[in-house]
Amino acid sequence: MKVTVFGTGYVGLVQGAVLADAGHHVLCVDVDADKVAGLQAGRMPIHEPGLEALVHRTQQLGRLDFTTDAAEGVRRSPVIFLAVGTPPDEDGSADLQYVLAVARTIATHMDGPRTVINKSTVPVGTADKVAQVLRQVLAERGADHVFDVVSNPEFLKEGAAVADCQRPDRIIVGTDSPRAEAQLRELYAPFNRNHDKIVVMDVKSAELTKYAANAMLATKISFMNEIANIAERMGADIEAVRRGIGSDPRIGYHFIYPGVGYGGSCFPKDVKALIHTAQEAGFEPTLLDAVEARNRAQREVLFSKISAHYAARGGSLAGKTVAVWGLAFKPNTDDMREAPSRNLLQALWQAGATVQAHDPVAMAEARRIFGERPDLRLVDSPMAALQGADCLAIVTEWQSFRVPDFDELAQALTDRIVFDGRNLYDPAVVARHGLTYVSIGRPVRGEPAGDWLNPV
Ligand code: UDX
Repeated sequence: MKVTVFGTGYVGLVQGAVLADAGHHVLCVDVDADKVAGLQAGRMPIHEPGLEALVHRTQQLGRLDFTTDAAEGVRRSPVIFLAVGTPPDEDGSADLQYVLAVARTIATHMDGPRTVINKSTVPVGTADKVAQVLRQVLAERGADHVFDVVSNPEFLKEGAAVADCQRPDRIIVGTDSPRAEAQLRELYAPFNRNHDKIVVMDVKSAELTKYAANAMLATKISFMNEIANIAERMGADIEAVRRGIGSDPRIGYHFIYPGVGYGGSCFPKDVKALIHTAQEAGFEPTLLDAVEARNRAQREVLFSKISAHYAARGGSLAGKTVAVWGLAFKPNTDDMREAPSRNLLQALWQAGATVQAHDPVAMAEARRIFGERPDLRLVDSPMAALQGADCLAIVTEWQSFRVPDFDELAQALTDRIVFDGRNLYDPAVVARHGLTYVSIGRPVRGEPAGDWLNPV
């Protein structure tokens, strides 16, 4: 099938490459000429395992192309994906200007029937708005081509985007058009072999399904962070509690890891957008408000622990050097959008500390975001971050941080203390090496404890 994808971000690029790999002929359109030129030359704009190989292979087979020519993109394919960004507006609602601009482009250039498939995460009712724009522009042109607007949300996770896209848990198809449903069944046939993963529903339910899935996952995380805050004040161990509740299949082990709050391009934005949608409809979503509020507070927890530690000893963070392991919002990505590391770094700088940070892949992104500044040193390895540092803060659970040489850590860190925002280690093991270990939702181990233990 000939397919055009508008937008070469995470969703569009991965979807395009995976569809091309499955045998379709895909043209990806983006307004960013540099990005398109890079992709044509085989350079990836994002770090995503398996993506580069997939793009190179499908390019060589002649099944994947990139262009800035939107008109060509519209004329060439009966099936067109919308995978452009929907950044949050100031009030938290999703900004639809890019989606609607592409809709106008499609209506301007379409010369026959088209199925417009919305992959971007957009508020309930957006498909109707897209259809309205299409109708309006077609009417202005005096053209009466047939079209359908389908909601087909994407559920990929960054860091596992290619694998998720190749093996979806479910394929949500929101449409009441038998013509569009048949087309999507054909399009997704290569991914729908063993059992039928396609769930057909009305457009609005499909749009809401995406938000409900992300909001549910965000709720699990905020819930667990809340329990972690309670646990550490009770002297309980959240990791034991996690295993205890996860064994109940109704709760499950997934997405109940406490930490420094959820980040990334999806959860924070989607929870806010869903709150906004609910409020607009006259409903106050108190649960979602709380999920969002807990997350905002959780992003400050690691800094609170660090600053309270020094304050309790009559000192301050001014002049301290803090080693930071992990900048990306989660492992296996260089994405720092809404990354909890950003909250930590800003707070440390404000307190007068210098940051010495390492991330396996997000260093260039950090340099781009923060620029050159005297209180930020980006270094090449986890151990280099420790040299001359007073303490260590762990923000992202990269595999390479999981089994450090604790003796080396104890020697390198002047204050011999580790603040772990991801609970990577067994507290007893860390303490055995003469380090103080402060983690999330667990009693502090090692060195003297005081009332700074539970500062927030
Ligand atoms: C998410 C959804 O998983 C995906 O289905 C959707 O399409 C887009 O949003 P992504 O943003 O890539 O994907 O990240 P995800 O792996 O879900 O993690 C989100 C955040 O939650 C990260 O900051 C992560 O560190 C945090 N998290 C996750 C926790 O703090 N605890 C957990 O138990 C799980």
